[in-house]
Amino acid sequence: MLAVAAVTQSTTDPLSGLYVGDLAEPEVPAGWVTIDVVAAALNHHDVWSLRGVGLPADRLPMILGCDAAGHDADGNEVLVYPVVSSPGWGADVTMDPRRSLLSEIYPGTLAERVRIPAGNLVPKPAGLSWEQAACLPTAWLTAYRMLFTNAAVSPGDTILVQGAGGGVATAAIQLGAAAGLRVFATSRDAAKRELALDLGAREVFESGARLPERVDAVLETVGAATWSHSVNALRPGGTIVISGATSGDAPAKAELTKIFFKQLRVIGSTMGTREELARLARFVAERGIQPRIDSVIPLAEARTGFERMVRGDVSGKIVFRN
Ligand SMILES: NC(=O)c1ccc[n+]([C@@H]2O[C@H](COP(=O)([O-])OP(=O)(O)OC[C@H]3O[C@@H](n4cnc5c(N)ncnc54)[C@H](OP(=O)(O)O)[C@@H]3O)[C@@H](O)[C@H]2O)c1
Repeated sequence: MLAVAAVTQSTTDPLSGLYVGDLAEPEVPAGWVTIDVVAAALNHHDVWSLRGVGLPADRLPMILGCDAAGHDADGNEVLVYPVVSSPGWGADVTMDPRRSLLSEIYPGTLAERVRIPAGNLVPKPAGLSWEQAACLPTAWLTAYRMLFTNAAVSPGDTILVQGAGGGVATAAIQLGAAAGLRVFATSRDAAKRELALDLGAREVFESGARLPERVDAVLETVGAATWSHSVNALRPGGTIVISGATSGDAPAKAELTKIFFKQLRVIGSTMGTREELARLARFVAERGIQPRIDSVIPLAEARTGFERMVRGDVSGKIVFRN
């Protein structure tokens, strides 16, 4: 089948290990099902895998991809929930130290077909295109848990979203605005700041710019490049929720003094549960939210999408179509 895989890894030239072409169908483990993928979204996770982060070299070649929307064997329209727990794990799968995302141990979604545990399906929301539905299981789920589980913000609160153009960031802006939050957003790029306003942000700022007021919570995925700004942007007692560090995880200053003096909360966040994905799907359908898509690219031309993401030239989600 046609698939997109990591065949080698390089920290400096991640695209050198990207393969797009024919690959053998992976085996179907007992209790797993096969989904015919209609659309699959690209995530920064796929670039990290090519850089050798989170994917040991002895697992190569590995089919990439965490997100997908498609048909199950009965023809139902489904979303793929990409977190696979270790055997017997009960409660919150994101707390399982031995969990994995599709493409870390088991082959991922950037293919014509993907195998997943039978319990990892959620109905595709009516009213969303296949491409929009494919955005939900990773970036949108991560933004949902950051906002509503970990930042625990309420309508009327003010949040700051760093790096407005990214997949998680655009999701956070759209979800936050739909939930009645006042959303501030930063971006390095003027066009992405304009986009953030279109998506529902109240005000937008250049990265690092002084805000008109301090915020209740910051949604941080950029990391080193924005960390000090995130700490400075918070009101006393405010919350930073961090789920990524695209620009690096070693900021010039850790800001420990400001964190304790302002009694800030710093909360890590990773993906979400299957139940949160189901709630996200209902919320998106109920509010008529249309996930922002940067571009739709045939799977066979996936390299183009990876090139754009490595350059940081993304406004919303890049989606591959079978
Ligand atoms: N923990 C989890 O479960 C989880 C889930 C999803 C994603 N993540 C992580 O969250 C991060 C974002 O993921 P994504 O899929 O949304 O990525 P993405 O679509 O590639 O977005 C990355 C964004 O980071 C911003 N950025 C700002 N300064 C940057 C700099 N100096 N260098 C690079 N980027 C910079 C850019 O925004 P502007 O151009 O607008 O400034 C860019 O659009 C990644 O590191 C990813 O691994 C974690």
